[in-house]
Amino acid sequence: MPPSIVRCELTHLAREPIDLPRANAQHRAYEHALEGLGCRIERLLDLPDQPDSVFVEDAAIVFDEVAVIARPGAASRRAEIASVEYALEQWRPIVRIEAPATLDGGDVLVAGRRVYVGISRRTNEEAARQLAHLLRPHGYTVAPVAVTGCLHLKSAVTLAAPDTLLVNPAWIEGAALDGFHAISVDPSEPMAANVLRIGDVTLCAAAFPRTRERLEQRGIQTRPVDASELAKAEGALTCCSLIVANTR
Ligand code: GLY
Repeated sequence: MPPSIVRCELTHLAREPIDLPRANAQHRAYEHALEGLGCRIERLLDLPDQPDSVFVEDAAIVFDEVAVIARPGAASRRAEIASVEYALEQWRPIVRIEAPATLDGGDVLVAGRRVYVGISRRTNEEAARQLAHLLRPHGYTVAPVAVTGCLHLKSAVTLAAPDTLLVNPAWIEGAALDGFHAISVDPSEPMAANVLRIGDVTLCAAAFPRTRERLEQRGIQTRPVDASELAKAEGALTCCSLIVANTR
């Protein structure tokens, strides 16, 4: 993780000191959690001058058929995409979001063949149109969802199980996501909606035990991961990885 993360972009949070050794230890624990669930970790080269570069999710969206290279809404983050593209081109054909579209991968929620695009301060309607065009040949439908009050769509909603969303309903238009079971975050844990499903297990931020309990009560197997230092950089569990399914 670049030490420059202390100068990361912040949109909805006030800056707090980040304990770098602790942040690195948490990131290693996150990698170990992924390895424990069968993932093989491929680390990218350090980008010391890119404060937000640990949040690789925003640079691309990986589908079984293609990898879509994003065009981050914060201009300061656009230099991150080259290294992500370099890593992904060995696994997927590459397609790109182009100007005037802006798209952060954190605004894209993929649920089977349905793709939801958060229209946020980082991602615009043109990005949703371009994504629909790029994915139509592969059988995906793309729907825009208005996001308010948080950074990304996936700050407000993620997939907790194949047919179940974990949602903070205050931050999105719920009707746009009809057709799924929905579990709301505990009201005392508004930041808890970002979870990472790997196989049959859902990784949850350790800071939000009440929401995790809600998932367990619905039969969803969870595992806590401490991501408190990354949270100060307005990052969450999905932000720190791109999951590339083995399609070979
Ligand atoms: N610090 C995460 C972001 O603003 O993109």
